[in-house]
Amino acid sequence: MISEYKKIIEESLEKYFDERLQNPEYTLFKDVIESMKYTTCLGGKRLRAVFCLEACRIFSGDYKAAIPTACAIEMLHAQSLIHDDLPCMDNDDLRRGKPSNHKVYGEAIATLAGDALISFGPQIIIEKTPKNIPSERIIELLRQYSIAAGAFGIVGGQTADIEAENRNEKISAHHLNFIHKYKTGALFKFSLISGALLGGADKDQLDTIEKFGEKFGLAFQIKDDILDVTSTSDIMGKTLGKDENANKSTYVTIFGLDTATEKLKNIIQECYDILEKDNIKTEVLEKIVNSLE
Ligand code: IPE
Ligand code: IPE
Ligand code: MG
Ligand code: MG
Ligand code: MG
Repeated sequence: MISEYKKIIEESLEKYFDERLQNPEYTLFKDVIESMKYTTCLGGKRLRAVFCLEACRIFSGDYKAAIPTACAIEMLHAQSLIHDDLPCMDNDDLRRGKPSNHKVYGEAIATLAGDALISFGPQIIIEKTPKNIPSERIIELLRQYSIAAGAFGIVGGQTADIEAENRNEKISAHHLNFIHKYKTGALFKFSLISGALLGGADKDQLDTIEKFGEKFGLAFQIKDDILDVTSTSDIMGKTLGKDENANKSTYVTIFGLDTATEKLKNIIQECYDILEKDNIKTEVLEKIVNSLE
């Protein structure tokens, strides 16, 4: 199922960009469309898109209505990566095993491509979501998108992350969880909520899926912090060891590797507990949680 989801996402993303790249009207700003496509279509695990499709399938039995939204989520994710890698942010030259966006297109186009990805996603959602989905659901979905993409989501989290660099004192666990909740949790949460909205989930079901998304997002970022010191650049496709060099506040720099690993284990268990207790345990969700172990 996961590979079927990934295939449809890859194909749809290619199509959305290629339709524009082939349009002679856009020749003079083709570079920004190519830059947008470069990072978005460079692969990646597609976890957020898979979550979106699976959440839709759980509540409606079919995932297809969520394809445009899942693509929009991958665009927003790519935007966050492009801007995260800029010299003024994490200054990373490698992403998904290839030179980062600004290394290929320059900082100006990379910045613009990120900006444009934030609004291309909602455009696709509005244009391509099947017409049988009630418009109130689409409006709620777009409201949630706006929150996740902006100051009250990823942007807020990235701000708090940058401001927690180079501190004389370690930040508290509460402060660190707050950063992770926004910079990473917000998008995972949106991925699941948007799919559930499209699948027709009711209020209780939305609450459950939101709870899972938040918990998973925290676990995912802790794992990323751990991999920054334990994995290799070849495996991860990005520069590692950067968090410590940049004097970042992460689970590893704050708690040390052993405690971070222990805490991750507990949060993974909490993810399983939500799946089990709230009756949303599916093979796909379980597999993805399992991949953090
Ligand atoms: C990287 O996310 C950014 C973080 C939130 C740590 P992923 O590890 O999901 O990146 P891709 O999409 O697989 O490249
Ligand atoms: C990034 O966190 C979270 C984003 C919103 C992009 P990191 O800065 O740790 O992500 P990587 O390690 O560069 O992928
Ligand atoms: Mg960062
Ligand atoms: Mg980074
Ligand atoms: Mg990282």
